[in-house]
Amino acid sequence: MNNKARNEIFLKKTIIREIYMTVSPNNPLFPDMPDWQQQARDNLWPPYTQMRTTPIGLPVSEAEGVRITLADGRRLIDGVSSWWSVCHGYRHPHIEQAVISQMQKLPHIMLGGYQHEPAARLATRLADLCPGDLNHVFFTDSGSVAIEVGMKMAIQYWLNNGVKGRHKFLHFRGGYHGDTFATMAVCDPEEGMHSHFSGVLTPQVLAELPVNDELYERLDMQMAKHADELAGVLIEPLVQGAGGMIFHSEEVLKKVARLCQKHNILLIADEIMTGLGRLGEMVACQRADVIPDIITFSKTLTGGTVPLAATIATSRIFEAFLSDDPAKALMHGPTFMGNPIGCMAALASLDLFEQEPRLEQVRAIEKQLEKELEPARGLPAVKDVRVCGSIGVIETTGLGDVNFLKQRFVEEGVWIRPFGSIIYTIPPYIIGSEDLSKVTSAMVKLAGELKSNT
Ligand SMILES: Cc1ncc(COP(=O)(O)O)c(C=O)c1O
Repeated sequence: MNNKARNEIFLKKTIIREIYMTVSPNNPLFPDMPDWQQQARDNLWPPYTQMRTTPIGLPVSEAEGVRITLADGRRLIDGVSSWWSVCHGYRHPHIEQAVISQMQKLPHIMLGGYQHEPAARLATRLADLCPGDLNHVFFTDSGSVAIEVGMKMAIQYWLNNGVKGRHKFLHFRGGYHGDTFATMAVCDPEEGMHSHFSGVLTPQVLAELPVNDELYERLDMQMAKHADELAGVLIEPLVQGAGGMIFHSEEVLKKVARLCQKHNILLIADEIMTGLGRLGEMVACQRADVIPDIITFSKTLTGGTVPLAATIATSRIFEAFLSDDPAKALMHGPTFMGNPIGCMAALASLDLFEQEPRLEQVRAIEKQLEKELEPARGLPAVKDVRVCGSIGVIETTGLGDVNFLKQRFVEEGVWIRPFGSIIYTIPPYIIGSEDLSKVTSAMVKLAGELKSNT
């Protein structure tokens, strides 16, 4: 590329950036800009964002079905279900009604010393949909905290059984389990998000997924070596999401489960991303006939409406906490655990899996993604195209200016958030085939605009 072309691209990117960075009520480019957007810029701290170089978030006024309406009237098709949560689309009337009526009856009550019908019914519904005797449900309010609770359960399981020293976790390269301190320690240590904190985090046991015989043997040896200090193994079954939408086979998951049994280490399945329909089953582990000791759900649990998470343990784990000794209780209790509105939203969301053909819709999405993303495979900057359930991924040799790329997707009328080297979609399960085609064609088109780095 010659200097002139390079300068032109630089200028174009700078102009776009300037437009986004100078959004204010007095900016002549945005005459009708309401003052709340200026307030957002002054006072709202956005997630995972370098505010100096990244355009401020697009102002949203409302959303319905798969469409997000921006404050300026433009409408985008949501290709990522608001961080993989809004599985029934926005404002499904069944969830909306459940939330409104619960709000008017009992918006919140502490679960310490009280119980209420929505939490009890939801616990039973979740126990019923989980395999085996995963029957004991502890509610929290975010995925990260659900994982932390699972880790606490695992550590204390051993202590309550009189086994000391088992307080570490084996986790896999490419994994992501949250942003809190305990969960950061079990994320991939090399991905950029948490590297600043490496000195502060408790070191854990990092392993490779056993995707071949050699790695299987290595994992076997690693587990044998650390068995006396390991409380559990943490895995995202079949798809590592935030680590780059990396897929592994059912056989790999089975092997991990087999080694956990062999070395008597608890298996914690993080289904916060993969569970509740994402891969075509309510529980992803079921695809491999694996029953973990502890499983976690969040994100789609309430259909992406209100925050709620669940950590579910087998009877074996639960019974280790039954004792005359108060110190053997699980000492955890977030203020909003089992919030009645959240539980009602989750019950309504589970109804929808029964009343509407959700899992069939996911299978249809899978087929359509396979067909429509395939043409990207031949593009110069594309390394791989892969699909699993409602997840469609184009892996590239490099995304270049990712903010520019995100802006291009907005221009195409779809909301897609590429990261790392991937362009991916995880649409709401209710997306129609025409809308999905708009998403896939934008993905293929913009992957085609990328320059190959190899
Ligand atoms: C597999 C997995 N585990 C845990 C989390 C953390 O959930 P939350 O963001 O609700 O804390 C996420 C979030 O993306 C996730 O994908």
